[in-house]
Amino acid sequence: MKAIWLDNGNNISAEELNSEGITYEQMDTNEATYKAPLEKVMKERGYVTMDQVGMKADMPNFDALCQKFVGEHLHTDDEVRFVLQGSGVFEIRSGEDRWMKVIVEQGDFILVPANRFHRFYLTDEKRIQCVRLFKDQSGWTPVYRKDLEATAAK
Ligand code: LAC
Ligand code: NI
Repeated sequence: MKAIWLDNGNNISAEELNSEGITYEQMDTNEATYKAPLEKVMKERGYVTMDQVGMKADMPNFDALCQKFVGEHLHTDDEVRFVLQGSGVFEIRSGEDRWMKVIVEQGDFILVPANRFHRFYLTDEKRIQCVRLFKDQSGWTPVYRKDLEATAAK
């Protein structure tokens, strides 16, 4: 994991991410090793589903998927990801609405709390495989900031 403030390029430590409400940890990517701690997280925080999600350049809906995540959005459920392979970039708003750029790779566990604006894109590697945890499918639909703000302005 590497994290920086987008506006000034300064590094963000795991502790600082934590104080901004983002849980970050590192875990071994062997299923035998990560399964128990992830199940513990599920129990503690009330997630009911564990599945895997992958993105890679040769999948049929690749461009549409990239488009879906690159727009600033939130979810009414937490976004919980554990990276098994590949890498990606989460840009997440801080409490003061600044962008925190978090580059995740194999072995990184990240939890973006519900209702926190963020966006996601792949690195040049163009490939990521993650375990995800969630409470229910519906809470994980992206709600785009531009749509929310358009509604608020009416
Ligand atoms: C999502 C990410 C990638 O919504 O932000 O799944
Ligand atoms: Ni998201």
